[in-house]
Amino acid sequence: MGKKPITAKKSTPPKKDSTQTNKEQVNNTKTPEKRKITTKGSINKKKSTSTKKKEPKEKLNSLKILKKSPYLKHSTSVQKNKKVLTLKELFENNLVDKKENKMEIILTGQYQKVIELIMETDAANLTPILVGPPGVGKTTLCRYYAQIRAEITGNDSFEWLTFDESTKPSHLVGSFNPAITIQKGFLFDAFNPGPLTKAMLMGGVFLANEINRATEYTQNSLLEPLEERMISIPHIGRIKASPGFFFIGAMNPSELVGTHRLGEALKDRFNVWIELDYPKKQTEIKIIEHNNPYFKIEEGLLEKIYLLVNRTRTHHQIQIPASLRSGITMARLTGINISKNQKLNSNKILGEVANYVLAGSIQPKPGIKAKDIVRSIITQVIGTS
Ligand SMILES: Nc1ncnc2c1ncn2[C@@H]1O[C@H](COP(=O)(O)OP(=O)(O)O)[C@@H](O)[C@H]1O
Ligand SMILES: [Mg+2]
Repeated sequence: MGKKPITAKKSTPPKKDSTQTNKEQVNNTKTPEKRKITTKGSINKKKSTSTKKKEPKEKLNSLKILKKSPYLKHSTSVQKNKKVLTLKELFENNLVDKKENKMEIILTGQYQKVIELIMETDAANLTPILVGPPGVGKTTLCRYYAQIRAEITGNDSFEWLTFDESTKPSHLVGSFNPAITIQKGFLFDAFNPGPLTKAMLMGGVFLANEINRATEYTQNSLLEPLEERMISIPHIGRIKASPGFFFIGAMNPSELVGTHRLGEALKDRFNVWIELDYPKKQTEIKIIEHNNPYFKIEEGLLEKIYLLVNRTRTHHQIQIPASLRSGITMARLTGINISKNQKLNSNKILGEVANYVLAGSIQPKPGIKAKDIVRSIITQVIGTS
């Protein structure tokens, strides 16, 4: 049995979710009517109606949701113009065009203030660092800032690296391709510049994400670029940054597990410390709505979602509370479930969804069960569990 080809159509991209980046579409060639889901979950061509098994009602409902979902819509719209695309073609089609993929974000409350501060720091040729718990929007803000900066300067160079224990200075600086180095020696042609070297050469923005997860050894390799705006490339020499090079740091507060302390020397290189916290109610609700463009839910439910996540942030038994992502996830799942069955009680749906989402997104203090805390928060906010 041969594999089913992957087909896709290049034209008419679907309506874009602002957070979405992929423009292309991939799908099996068979139309949904010609397929049936086997018990093993694989998709086979229907043989005859007499062999058709009765599907449980819930399963059929879920199938309808898949057909209705705008997130999967391009999968069905490609079926008119069947054309087998190679992986290379898919790669080329899916390459993100920065100009077409403008991101939009909510810029009220702290977010407006932070963008302004980053802008002022950049204009004064200083170095900022964003500090805040996971999921408050640090990375989103930096990416957005790089975009608006590009609109003004015409230079859209933006590089970033998320640090962890295994990040080495060579991941920042770059490395030599062994085969070319053997042939040509340690020349620039054999060198693959890393993201920091690229940003420095191009006078662009470099985001050092989760910078305090890096070891001190790697943190120290940032001193030269920050202090002297130069970087040493082994065997080649030192290069200086082009005008416009702007380094932004981002990190979670160092009390959180899994982070190293930021070394004193590196700490001193950051001039402006920008703190981000969980946003105020109206801003968070706007962010949730913004990231749930298709399955809208009513204001009252949005408020309850906010209350659910907010309670995790004030709860004395929780070490790491729910982030903005949890609210966004609950809104999407609740919206989908309501559209699946309008007759169900929307509070009950949210209660169920919250169980699935919150238990995994909070970290309770030692000895406390996440499930128990989640159940009590749901009962407080919704009245059911
Ligand atoms: N101002 C904002 N406008 C729209 N969406 C936001 C905003 N801030 C955060 N988000 C959303 O919240 C989620 C977490 O943001 P992220 O930048 O990854 O947080 P962090 O880097 O602090 O962990 C993302 O899904 C992002 O889209
Ligand atoms: Mg981040």
